[in-house]
Amino acid sequence: MSAAVGIALTGSGAATPDRVVTNDELSLWLDTSDDWIRSRTGIAARRIATAEDSLESLASQAAKQALEQAGWRPDQVDLILLATSSPEDLFGSAPAVQAALEANNAVAFDITAACSGFLFALITAAQYIRSGAYQRVLVVGADLLSRWVDWQDRRTCVLFGDGAGAVAMEAAPEGWDGLPTMVMGTDGRRRNCLTMAHRATTQVLHNQLQAGSGGFHPIAMDGQEVYKFAVQQVPLVLNQALKQAGITAEQLDWLLLHQANERILASVAQRLGIPAAKVLSNLGNYGNTSAATIPLMLHEAVEAQRIRPGHLIASSGFGAGLSWGAALLRWGRPDAP
Ligand code: ACO
Repeated sequence: MSAAVGIALTGSGAATPDRVVTNDELSLWLDTSDDWIRSRTGIAARRIATAEDSLESLASQAAKQALEQAGWRPDQVDLILLATSSPEDLFGSAPAVQAALEANNAVAFDITAACSGFLFALITAAQYIRSGAYQRVLVVGADLLSRWVDWQDRRTCVLFGDGAGAVAMEAAPEGWDGLPTMVMGTDGRRRNCLTMAHRATTQVLHNQLQAGSGGFHPIAMDGQEVYKFAVQQVPLVLNQALKQAGITAEQLDWLLLHQANERILASVAQRLGIPAAKVLSNLGNYGNTSAATIPLMLHEAVEAQRIRPGHLIASSGFGAGLSWGAALLRWGRPDAP
């Protein structure tokens, strides 16, 4: 479990838009009900970004909180990884986060892997620290999928919400490993189960030349396939991660899954033999915020002192790709009380 350079997770942050939209409010224009949404998903409400809200600003607020909790100065940040599938600039929104933080010595770039994005970014950050390349990394997960759902499609739009979360990860003395094991995977053959695909349209430049135009379809999902994939794949990868670390499920303090559906959380916990009291869940209040769910939940649990320094957390992200990732996380730094 030990590595040449240790890793510590030393700060967290989160930010969400102010506007709360309840299930009852959705039923004002959709053929749906609070009862259907709650019983199938566990979701009661979600935050929805208005046109004035900004992904870059929410991501920056979350990152700033994580940085402050870690006790770093902005000029000490080496790398900012922003996991998002809904950037405000297709060239990348991470540079806007860097600028907002005045983290002028950092390199900043986006990672796109839908609901696996935060975990993939966390694992990527760990590689930079382990190799000795960087000392301090901010890993941010942010998505405003409300901009990309079809608000007339009741099978998808009720599931998603908007938000941002962040974690500060830094080099630690050898032997302290805040991310002892990791597993990642993709099955591109099943990529059509969940898409936000390019919309092909043509622009005629002159009578001999046509070019395509940019644009995207709204989110399209085969909900049942994604559900089956999640309840089968997530226990497998979590078991792999536990086995790699030589840890049993009983030794875990918390299970922190991508917050997609309460039934998925319950099914995975049951398959791993983890009691419901150890399953972290806030999707009732936020819905599926894609790359933001894991750091948003983590931050809430850290703030509430449910997650404490030294706690061992099993985490898994899964979604479009289809893709999945799992990691064990040890919260805090070695010198923490
Ligand atoms: N309100 C009322 N009725 C609805 C709604 C709604 N919002 N949505 C669907 N229904 C209806 C359907 O039309 C269907 O009616 P019918 O039988 O008359 O055709 C009925 O409810 C049952 O629909 P199902 O699709 O079978 O419902 P299911 O129990 O499978 O639940 C759900 C659907 C909640 C989407 C489930 O499949 C699920 O959670 N899947 C996983 C989705 C997920 O987590 N995706 C995100 C992955 S993460 C990422 O990367 C973005």
